[in-house]
Amino acid sequence: MTKSLKLGIAGLGTVGSSLIQLLAAHGDRLTGVLPQPLRVDAVCARTRGKDRGVNLDDIRWFDDPVALARDAGIDVFVELIGGEDGPAKAAVEAALASGKHVVTANKALLAKHGVALARLAEENAVALNFEAAVAGGIPAIKTMREAFLPNKISRAYGILNGTCNYILTTMEDEGRSFADVLKEAQDKGYAEADPTFDIGGFDACHKLALMTSLAFGTEVAADQIHVEGIETITKADIEAASDLGYRIKLLGVAAETKSGIEARVHPAMVAKNSAIAEVSGVTNCVALEGDFTGSILLVGPGAGGGPTAAAVASDIIDVARGIVLPPFITPVGDLAPHKRARIDEHCGAYYLRLTLRDEPGAMAGIAKCMGDEGVSLESVVQRREMKALPGSGKPTPAGEAATVIIITHETTEDAIGKAVHAIEAIEKVAEKPQVIRIEKL
Ligand code: HSE
Repeated sequence: MTKSLKLGIAGLGTVGSSLIQLLAAHGDRLTGVLPQPLRVDAVCARTRGKDRGVNLDDIRWFDDPVALARDAGIDVFVELIGGEDGPAKAAVEAALASGKHVVTANKALLAKHGVALARLAEENAVALNFEAAVAGGIPAIKTMREAFLPNKISRAYGILNGTCNYILTTMEDEGRSFADVLKEAQDKGYAEADPTFDIGGFDACHKLALMTSLAFGTEVAADQIHVEGIETITKADIEAASDLGYRIKLLGVAAETKSGIEARVHPAMVAKNSAIAEVSGVTNCVALEGDFTGSILLVGPGAGGGPTAAAVASDIIDVARGIVLPPFITPVGDLAPHKRARIDEHCGAYYLRLTLRDEPGAMAGIAKCMGDEGVSLESVVQRREMKALPGSGKPTPAGEAATVIIITHETTEDAIGKAVHAIEAIEKVAEKPQVIRIEKL
């Protein structure tokens, strides 16, 4: 009889439990198509007695993930504990060092320790697979490692955080404020109690760090990614963007430029008629631009028990098929250092929202600041409205405050930064200007 591939699963939260359900539901079918049947041999979690809706009979129980990782009875250690250090790191290191294949969904761990762990995996000739770590159910990693590998990638980007996409979509669809939608998302359990990691762009940054390494053969370097979150996006921005034919999305973008790798996570305006603008709610997407294929866009669920468990299972299937690749495609010793392109060299068009005192010369002052930095304006829209100027305490009579929306022609981040700095110093400018990059897709 063919020997089973024995799995040790550490972490029985939503994803771990879904994985056990998936293997129970599809084990027979998979056995029919794989060289080895898959068997859950052992599990490890914090609480043993909890009802997880899965049958754990005949499965060995471990309290300590490191002991499970080292156990001679397992072939593959499946890490679903989470966290960039602590037990997840200790257990993954122990598994790799003792010659076990590792499958993990842990983007934070890989974003911080990816190179060291990949080295350990390669030294021990085992797999370190992490399909579920980037965009959940979307097969982004496999696509980059396999089907898209013949291409030289020029840009890899995507909507990599479902919480942010849900908030921005709901703000637009329902005309609501950021704070209001965030609170509702927390009340309904869509957003974490502490949502900083998602809305601040850090979760997307971890995913982009992995994509960047795979796309450009560079060391994983999350700390070299420029990160801005969606906290500053207002209803006024969403409405103005919509009026001008754009939607606002939190994008993660990595591109190769002459001066290095430009990797950034930030809210961006995308044309409403682009495919990515249609990716709404919690849905994620990953786009790749290659020299021979051209552009592809993969769209799907970025989180959730079922999609994430399926991604984990697809990595286990690779091991069962005997596929062991360098984790970041390029062998770790050949990964190039991540040479960061300066964000102020970024070229693109920009959206600016300014609140001005509606007085003679206000617009002329703005135009001069832009002209002085060589920034050319594509469109300017001024709206007169009742608005409380800072410090006035109540809405001023119509005509005293004006919102001005500017779209620039393509320019550099450096020029926009300098122009905005000069604009901020103008006394007639009543609020900090809002600046959003426009992404050409
Ligand atoms: N919290 C993430 C999201 C899913 O909102 O997309 C896990 O990375």
